Amino acid sequence: MRLPDEVTIVEVGPRDGLQNEPDTVPTEVKIGLIERLADAGLPVVEATSFVHPRWVPQLADAAEVLAGLTRRAGVRYPVLVPNETGLDRALAAEVEEVAVFGAASEAFSQANINRTIAESLEMFAPVITRAKEHGLRVRGYVSTVCGCPYQGEVPVDDVVRVTASLFELGVDEVSVGDTIGVGTPGQVAELVGILGEHVLLDRLAVHMHDTFGQGLANTLAAFGEGVHIADASAGGLGGCPFAPGATGNLATEDLVYACEGSGIHTGVDLPALIDTTQWVHERLGRAPASRVAQAAIAKRRAAESD
Ligand code: HMG
Ligand code: MG
Repeated sequence: MRLPDEVTIVEVGPRDGLQNEPDTVPTEVKIGLIERLADAGLPVVEATSFVHPRWVPQLADAAEVLAGLTRRAGVRYPVLVPNETGLDRALAAEVEEVAVFGAASEAFSQANINRTIAESLEMFAPVITRAKEHGLRVRGYVSTVCGCPYQGEVPVDDVVRVTASLFELGVDEVSVGDTIGVGTPGQVAELVGILGEHVLLDRLAVHMHDTFGQGLANTLAAFGEGVHIADASAGGLGGCPFAPGATGNLATEDLVYACEGSGIHTGVDLPALIDTTQWVHERLGRAPASRVAQAAIAKRRAAESD
């Protein structure tokens, strides 16, 4: 497998992670998390979502988060917007990047955004056009690319069709998501190989939830096929309120540890990232799921007690 020399990690913990917490996290903790992640060298930190506050009450303070955030030069802070109402709110908060989010499965599309796939693409079209007119960068997500919590198997053709449609509508990058973390490295390698026949792999990212413990292997499998952008979340936070059974994303620490140890440059300061993960998990009142963070924290505690 030929791995890239350098990859870009898109940190999604403040959005994908905190949208799924049972208790709403205080705004100042969200801001503290985003700022610490940027300070640890993450080049892109997905900050929040401008979705309907009744659908995702955990992120109802999106405007306050952005207003309170000290933005670091050179770091991107994308936000999720499903529709023009979300875009208007994001523009008022002076964002520079937005992400629309569709799915390869009809059932998940309906559960997540109350639209069929065709309706969702219609909803995204003016969002993408207007965002571009405002000079914003636009990301697109395609969820359920390895399986759907409602319909089960998802045909690869459907993943290709939705991914290609988002590019046709003008997005700069598409992140393909294993929302429920059921994929395997062989499946991901095959999927990326097929996607590469239709879209530019330079503009493709992978977003691998770790429910079945395959997130890292799946991400490395995608890297082996020519992808060099991957989503991950601090400590392995995350999940989707509309995907029953889905747990967190691939942990950013696990990805950084694997990459740096394999000679793949990430630009992330691993000790600073682990400090951040420890800081936010102390506030959430539980240990991180990340194996690397757990091991590093245990090692630090052992050193302190010597
Ligand atoms: P809807 O009920 O169909 O909305 O929800 P609507 O268009 O019919 O509008 C109804 C009312 O909502 C209207 O107000 C709108 O103004 C208001 P009214 O006229 O009744 O007073 N409204 C809004 N208010 C604030 N912000 C908005 C907004 N939009 C409409 N943006 C909608 C459709 C898409 C809004 C809803 O389904 C929604 O917000 N869904 C969000 C779901 C979500 O956030 N899911 C999690 C993120 S996706 C994910 O985690 C997967 C990912 O990580 C990748 C992976 O893992 O695969 C990205
Ligand atoms: Mg996700």
